[in-house]
Formats: sequence, structure tokens, C-alpha cells
Amino acid sequence: MPTTFLVQLSDTHIREPGQLAYGRLDTAPYLAQAVTAIGRLPQQPHAVVLTGDLTDFGRPAEYAHLRALLAPLAVPFYLMPGNHDDRQTLRASFPEHTYLGTEGFVQYSVRIGDLQLIALDTVVPQASEGSLCADRLAWLADELDQHRDRPVIVAMHHPPFATLIGHMDAIGLQAGSAELEALLNRHPNVERVICGHLHRAIQVRFGAGMAVTVPSCAHQVRLDLAPDAASSWNLEPPGFGIHALPARDGAPGGLGRIVSHTAYTGTFDGPYPFHDPTGALID
Ligand SMILES: [Fe+2]
Repeated sequence: MPTTFLVQLSDTHIREPGQLAYGRLDTAPYLAQAVTAIGRLPQQPHAVVLTGDLTDFGRPAEYAHLRALLAPLAVPFYLMPGNHDDRQTLRASFPEHTYLGTEGFVQYSVRIGDLQLIALDTVVPQASEGSLCADRLAWLADELDQHRDRPVIVAMHHPPFATLIGHMDAIGLQAGSAELEALLNRHPNVERVICGHLHRAIQVRFGAGMAVTVPSCAHQVRLDLAPDAASSWNLEPPGFGIHALPARDGAPGGLGRIVSHTAYTGTFDGPYPFHDPTGALID
């Protein structure tokens, strides 16, 4: 199996066409830009997962707009709800995405290349904060028991760790983090927990691997680690995550380590060579 590439898009916050998020931001061109950037990646991903806050208010017209914006993606994509979403409207808007199920939590497990992607639902309806209850964790435990033989990525909207951005931690995962980590400690093949919600790139040790958040492909949460930091956003460079599981080389030991990159979308100067045609470093 060649190297497995999984792109993680997050927090697209799509509104109805022509409507601005927070009265200021048209998020649609940002998603279009990200979809274009994915199409131009030197290595095409096996799949894309969207880790929640697909829309801003969970309305049918917003999901219809999201659907149109994602249509140019040439690879399979997997949708997850965030605190801005509505499970049933999401399901109704993407009926062919049968992995979304028909009722209850939106949780699923799919094989992508050499890895297993397990999507966990942290949504509490009508609330900004998230939660992992015993039912959701029991489902995860069962899935993990079935996939001990390969690297696993667990995806969830709300990260299971404090970020130090006070106003975001106040609407973070309110229950289940310790239980989740205890479970992952028993499954060291869970290489990565990938999350959204924070609109920033953050990395923390969690379980036997790492938990990460990725930038939004639109707006970012302002970097201020004060407990009383003002709740605000800005237009730092948008981006997305790329999680890569290198091709197995037959080396003994281990199930393979996932390498996570952050790609920034936009138009940037370059590329320029480091070396001249003779191979010398350009002086
Ligand atoms: Fe968000």
C-alpha cells in the first residue's frame, strides 16, 4: 500500500449564498480556495474529512451551499457535525452519505488506505460546548477493539484538551476527556486525535499519540492565551491539515507513525530554488 494521505478540513462555517458570517465574512470563497488547493496538492489525498462547523447555523440552505462548494472535490469526503451544525439537517442534505446514519449521534468508522478513521460526535444540541457521554465512548471502545492491527485516527470536533484560549476552553469538551484518554492509553495504535473548533493549529500529547487542531479554511481565532481573552476572530492565513501514513517499508516493530502537516491556502510568492544549476547553495 502506498503512503496514505488524509486531508482534514475544518470549520468551514458556510452561510446561505450572499450571507456574511458575523456580518463581515463571506466564508464560501475560502472553502472554494481550499478545495482548489487540495486539487493542486502534489500528492492527492485518499480522502478528506471535515471536522465540524460545516455551516454557521445548521440550515438547509447552508448545507445546500456547502454541497455545491464541495462538489469539485475529486476524492471521497466525510462530514462531521460541530456545535454550529444540525445532525438531522446534515443527514437530509447529504442523503447519499449513508455513513452519517439516520438518527442519534453521527459516528462512523472507515478504512482509508492503511489507516482507520473513527469519527466521534461531541455535539450537544443547542449548546456551544461539547461532551462525550458513556454511550459514545462505549461505541468507540468497540471500534478500537476491532482495529488494533492498524494505525487509527480519531476525529472529533471539540478537542479533548485545554488550549489556554480561555473563551474557547469555556465552550470546549465539558465531559469525557479523561475517560477518552484512559481508553486511548489502552490502544497505543491511536496515532492521532484530530479536532476542529479552535480555528488554529495546536498540538498536545494525548494518550499514546498526539491530539491536534487545525486552522479553519476561513477565519481564525485570535491568539491570546489569557484566561479572560476577548472572544474574537481574524483573517490570519487559512489552512487545513494533511495527515500522512508512510508506506510500510517492512521494518519490524510498530504500526507506522502518522506525520501531520499544516498547509496554508492562498496565493504566495515562490517557489524559488535553494541551489543554482551547479548544485551550489545560492549566495
Ligand atoms: Fe468553528
